[in-house]
Amino acid sequence: MVNHGMVLSALGTVTDPELHYDIVTLNMVRNIGIQGDEVTVDVALTVKGCPLHERIETDVETAVRKLPGVAEVHVNLDVMNDEERRTAFARAFQQSQKQNAPTSNANRSAQGTGADPGSASWSPLLAKDSKTVLLGIASGKGGVGKSTVTANLAVALGRLGFRVGVMDMDIYGYSQGRMLGATEQAMGNEQQKVIPLNPHGVFVVSMGMFVKGNQAVVWRGPMLGKMMQQFFTDIAWPQLDYLLIDLPPGTGDVALDVATRLPMASLVIVTTPQIVAKEVAMRTADVAHRAEQRILGVVENMSYIPLAGGQRMEIFGSGGGEELSKTLSVPLLGQVPMETSVREGGDRGVPVFLSAPDSEASQTFLQIAQKIDAAARA
Ligand SMILES: Nc1ncnc2c1ncn2[C@@H]1O[C@H](COP(=O)(O)OP(=O)(O)O)[C@@H](O)[C@H]1O
Ligand SMILES: [Mg+2]
Repeated sequence: MVNHGMVLSALGTVTDPELHYDIVTLNMVRNIGIQGDEVTVDVALTVKGCPLHERIETDVETAVRKLPGVAEVHVNLDVMNDEERRTAFARAFQQSQKQNAPTSNANRSAQGTGADPGSASWSPLLAKDSKTVLLGIASGKGGVGKSTVTANLAVALGRLGFRVGVMDMDIYGYSQGRMLGATEQAMGNEQQKVIPLNPHGVFVVSMGMFVKGNQAVVWRGPMLGKMMQQFFTDIAWPQLDYLLIDLPPGTGDVALDVATRLPMASLVIVTTPQIVAKEVAMRTADVAHRAEQRILGVVENMSYIPLAGGQRMEIFGSGGGEELSKTLSVPLLGQVPMETSVREGGDRGVPVFLSAPDSEASQTFLQIAQKIDAAARA
């Protein structure tokens, strides 16, 4: 006859598609009931309306049904409370640290702990043999949707199965906390390192974690360099496949500073269809070239408003993205339409890629993520 232990180990083979760890480790199994050959499993999902709940449900059912002596499986889905969610993410985090402890320790001791700006000693993430792809999301000016693109590409890459981090380096215009729905203050671990927040399975660090309310950040010069260093050294980043960096817009001191410190980053440049926007974005590309950063491609955002019958209204003109990509000899990775759901997603902290996965914008983000992955690994 089937027993509790057998069911539990079967459930240990079911992974949460977003956090990429098994549901037992993640504390998602609330209860297991066995009555003869009938098994009932209560599973708590990390987020309400989790778009992947059906997959979890089917996976649980399949895993338990395989056990000898099981004729029927019932799966009850519920949603975690805040406390449970915190535990789940803490466990996912511990797990990722555990898995990668040997490499990161080796990196650390090989490089020493000196804080030499721009060198790998800042973090194993920056080490030469690091497997993490650093992806800077840049734009010539603010308001073109750089942060929106960053947040959506992060969750899209997560959906492709990658472990993704987001570093909000737009110190003055930080917005990733809001966009990804992570507005908690920073919390430290035993090593006095700050634990990234983990909304939607993405690891996030943003200035919002360190300032109360909506305070403006007024640091200058050396403080900024220090800040950036801390975003690498003082954060307990888990092993990541991708670290997306929401860069400061434009070509001012801050943007330059960041670029020269991260020569190993690849860039995605976000622009709008206007030709003037293209001119501005060109200067960003120039900074990237000087810092020897590789430009992966261009994303044109707010390209058009989709109309009924497949027509497109191009309110911001057209051609900017394509021209920019031609001038830079890099691919145009995608043209993201303007949709109300995109803005709403950002305001609500649930990126459109998750809240409206079938929308044209979401489909475009998925294609861009796939192209980025192909290019980053090429
Ligand atoms: N494709 C889009 N469709 C609709 N609204 C968008 C789109 N992209 C961005 N927005 C909205 O435009 C505003 C600026 O975007 P944001 O990502 O904050 O720009 P940036 O980071 O470049 O300053 C935000 O309110 C955002 O929700
Ligand atoms: Mg922004």
